[in-house]
Amino acid sequence: MGSFGERVGRRAILKAGIALGIQLSLARESPGQQNGASQRPREGDLLVKVGDATVTPLTPADIPVGVKQTMAWPMDPMDKTVRNGSRLNRVLLLRLDPEKLSPETKSRAADGVLAYTAICTHTGCEVTEWLADEQLLVCPCHESRFEPKDGARVVDGPAPRNLPALPLKLMDGTLVVAKPFTASVAFEVQ
Ligand code: FES
Repeated sequence: MGSFGERVGRRAILKAGIALGIQLSLARESPGQQNGASQRPREGDLLVKVGDATVTPLTPADIPVGVKQTMAWPMDPMDKTVRNGSRLNRVLLLRLDPEKLSPETKSRAADGVLAYTAICTHTGCEVTEWLADEQLLVCPCHESRFEPKDGARVVDGPAPRNLPALPLKLMDGTLVVAKPFTASVAFEVQ
């Protein structure tokens, strides 16, 4: 039987471990659950606007410059499977002046178009708001703010880390995923 302090410490570690386990399971999903629609975006995927029944691949011209984010899903270019089987695949697209982007962010942009996960790293709400004057992404749940011009780093609020980015490139004028998410899409469990 350990001291009170040791017992509290063990409980805290156990609790953290359980929370971490849930979080990781959310982020990864088991291989048995994986199908094309729930697999994370991969190199070569196209992007289609959420709710677009025509599933037309997006181009930079579809993303207005300097305005609120456009929500999109990745799509397998071969069999046209829209990867909407997991909400963790939802991405937000923004188009900003490339000259105002940090070097790393610029390297992930295609003609000024940036893609980040739409899932807030705090407790998983969707980052749906946009502060036009300050050009910041805002999560409506607890007001976390992210700087899209610099890797969607957290500039305010309780979010513990930046929004993972989805690097893009252009192929024949169409937006295409260049690399997987820069980090696991996950959030804190409370
Ligand atoms: S879920 Fe986004 S700030 Fe809390």
